[in-house]
Amino acid sequence: MADPKLVQDIVEALDIPGGSTQRRPVHTVGIGVTGHFVPSPIAPEYCVAEHFQPPAKPEGVPVDVRFSNGIGLVKEHDGWSDVRGMAVRFHLKDGKSTDLIAMTLSVFFAPTETTFLKFARHARPQPCKRETPWQKIKHYLKLELPLPDPYPGQTERPNEAAIAFANEHAWAQPAVVEASAIGAPVSYVRADYHAVHTFVVTGRDGQERRVRFTWAPVAGVLNTNPEETPKDKYLQKDLRDRLAGKQTERFTLMMQIGEIGDDFDDSSRQWPPHRKRVMMGTLTLEHVPDDQQAHSEKLSFNPWHLVEGIKPSGDPVLRIRKDVYEYSSNRRGGIPCPFSNVKG
Ligand code: HEM
Repeated sequence: MADPKLVQDIVEALDIPGGSTQRRPVHTVGIGVTGHFVPSPIAPEYCVAEHFQPPAKPEGVPVDVRFSNGIGLVKEHDGWSDVRGMAVRFHLKDGKSTDLIAMTLSVFFAPTETTFLKFARHARPQPCKRETPWQKIKHYLKLELPLPDPYPGQTERPNEAAIAFANEHAWAQPAVVEASAIGAPVSYVRADYHAVHTFVVTGRDGQERRVRFTWAPVAGVLNTNPEETPKDKYLQKDLRDRLAGKQTERFTLMMQIGEIGDDFDDSSRQWPPHRKRVMMGTLTLEHVPDDQQAHSEKLSFNPWHLVEGIKPSGDPVLRIRKDVYEYSSNRRGGIPCPFSNVKG
């Protein structure tokens, strides 16, 4: 159990003007979607977890998915450059379930819970500034990160403070640079989402492997044009339109396998790009339920909500998230995460 004061401090550091303690402090605006997940034929070799076993029914296991904008504002700003989230709950036998939470950044902002608190206290959204070409050149000459231009209509973002912080703290740079250039997807189903942390999976032969998961959109990644004024609200309507009638959208679940020497317990560091990747299955999105309270607003995902066959790594950021998400869910009156089958 993490220090309760640290957990509370972290959640409060995420609170921003324009947010609400009755809602999530980050990833505030989101939409719940239902569908199913079918494991690939090779998945059971690599992981004995129930959702990776040959399915009893051809449609595999049912899932609840919540897509979200990363910023902690209650107002929807879909067209702003921002990190997006994709939280998936796999529904298993006997009322059990397991979660996989991912976002569009491939690395995290900080290596530990205390460095994240420091980062979160600094990198708060502020009014956007546009640098002059001369200021940009000055940054390059000083080997500092220049400010990206704001998206048309974007009035606030954490970039200014995050970049100033990253210029002083090298560990924050990979994620801050990626976040600065991330843009806005044309659709929640046209972005890829990384679970970022290392998890330990047990294969059929009993071998344990250190792995990282990524959801890749079958339709491919596509952003809006950063030169054009984006619409404020389009992502939820886009999903509803795409899934109207019998239409579906798909993601594949890729699993990158770590090797000795890779950073298993530090999600602020990438693994070499040539690490082996295995396709673990296909997720099909089918329907946007009418009851968005039950399928989005009140749902509580937790990265520690795992099943036999998948364990958390020693990553301190992953460890603190267990209590942070529970604290945040309680604060906003979410349905408690079903931890009955959590190991570790
Ligand atoms: C110390 C690090 C982190 C902290 C303190 C943190 C904090 C939070 C909090 C407080 C929530 C709201 C939880 C709730 O009320 O249900 C949340 C949601 C979320 N976080 Fe994090 N987070 C961290 C790292 C990450 C990482 C590494 C990822 C991506 C792998 C991530 C992706 C998400 C997503 C997608 C949601 C929305 C989940 C939903 O739709 O319900 N977070 N985070």
